Amino acid sequence: MIKTVEWTDEGVRMIDQRLLPTEEKYVTLRSCEEVADAIKTMMVRGAPAIGVSAAMGLALGAKQIPGTSVSNLERKFDQLCEMMSGTRPTAVNLFWAIEKMRQEFKRVKSQSESTADIQRALTDMALRIFREDIEANRALGRFGAELIPDGATVLTHCNAGALATAGDYGTALGVIRGARDAGKRIAVIADETRPFLQGLRLTAWELAKDDIPVTVITDNMAGHVMKGGKVDAVVVGADRIAANGDAANKIGTYMVAVLAQRHNIPFYVAAPITTLDLSIPSGMEIPIEERASREITHIGDQQLGPDGVEVHNPAFDVTPNDLITAIITDKGVARAPFVESLRRLAEGK
Ligand code: MRU
Repeated sequence: MIKTVEWTDEGVRMIDQRLLPTEEKYVTLRSCEEVADAIKTMMVRGAPAIGVSAAMGLALGAKQIPGTSVSNLERKFDQLCEMMSGTRPTAVNLFWAIEKMRQEFKRVKSQSESTADIQRALTDMALRIFREDIEANRALGRFGAELIPDGATVLTHCNAGALATAGDYGTALGVIRGARDAGKRIAVIADETRPFLQGLRLTAWELAKDDIPVTVITDNMAGHVMKGGKVDAVVVGADRIAANGDAANKIGTYMVAVLAQRHNIPFYVAAPITTLDLSIPSGMEIPIEERASREITHIGDQQLGPDGVEVHNPAFDVTPNDLITAIITDKGVARAPFVESLRRLAEGK
């Protein structure tokens, strides 16, 4: 099992995803600030993984606040939450996890005046968020497996695997692993995913480790491959899903969805219910992160573009709900009209 992020006595331990696949290096982060920096610099990435990491970072930070009064602990904890909220804007799992931690603080504070009780409860909550993410991905993997036929070739974009979650199964790759574990023969086509190359570096690495056949293509090959009849289904993850089913995911996902519709290929989004943002009616309200131009002009230290060239580097795009065949969650599978089906799943009906 790939251990994306772990709680240890020394701090938050994670695999440095920037070095994969050539180096498997685990790093122990010893403060909340270090965890926030790891999220910002993409040592850890993927919506559920950054939510889990943020919760662990906050638990660690709270533990390190010297024992004074509850009000002092609360003031400093709020500052840490603010700092954590500023790391990355698009994945709602980050804000969901921070809010869970804030709520837990309030709940324990209303019952106890002990800072140690609050600190312990925050650690327990972070561990619960970690465990529940793994369980959620197993559950969505089981639901999704039913939609994937035996012998299918599935195209995926970015990395929505163990590395993008608390570990183990992943979301889009959770569906693929679920199908494999249900006895189906599945092959994967992984888009390389410019500019950060999560598909080439991370998805291909994960699947090869798991003995799931994987072929990498560059992003601009997807249309050709679909036209050639080589893709039976597309399964991608999501960073934030609006109430109407519009889904933000790694830049390039929208292009894949348009191509899938053109070629009559089912397009599935796989995400835990924690990726749902029912507070926004549509994808128009999803903030899209703009990342550094260097991610496009350089590969590693190698400069590819001319000095000072103007670059636009949006890290995500939004796929409109009418291009989505179904949204696979840990609570079940939602189909159009998504406003109703997603609300029902979120309410546990
Ligand atoms: O910029 P990243 O690597 O954090 O973007 C990740 C993605 O877009 C994933 O597809 C998404 O978070 C789903 S992960 C289960």
